[in-house]
Amino acid sequence: MFTDAFASLPVGRNDELRILNVGCGLGFLSCVSAEFYKNARITGIDTFEHASLRRSSPKRAKENARILGFSDRIDFNKGDVFRFTPVEKFDIIISNLVFHNFGKIRFKVYSRL
Ligand SMILES: C[S@@+](CC[C@H](N)C(=O)[O-])C[C@H]1O[C@@H](n2cnc3c(N)ncnc32)[C@H](O)[C@@H]1O
Repeated sequence: MFTDAFASLPVGRNDELRILNVGCGLGFLSCVSAEFYKNARITGIDTFEHASLRRSSPKRAKENARILGFSDRIDFNKGDVFRFTPVEKFDIIISNLVFHNFGKIRFKVYSRL
């Protein structure tokens, strides 16, 4: 499903993209995007405080990326999307199983992002 979505975007698979993964958790979607976009650099942010992923941490996400061979292209940081002020521009913003939890306030986040 994600690779179909990536393939539908008007960017090339080998482009040097900057990707932001909001609510990255243990890094699942960051790694999927790194696999698809071979020259992309990905930043994952997460509060790392969610009850369903209690034992998640930037360290554990980084370990997953390392195992899959993406540690040179993916970085994970603690961050709250409601307060996040990026210091750079991103070409693509991705997220999985995060925004539906925010209710109507998610529309504010969409426009901020
Ligand atoms: C159901 S998990 C999904 C994790 C990951 N996207 C995946 O596909 O495995 C939801 C994630 O959203 C994160 N999250 C919740 N509120 C957040 C916020 N305000 N800013 C950043 N991340 C948030 C949680 O910490 C949790 O890791």
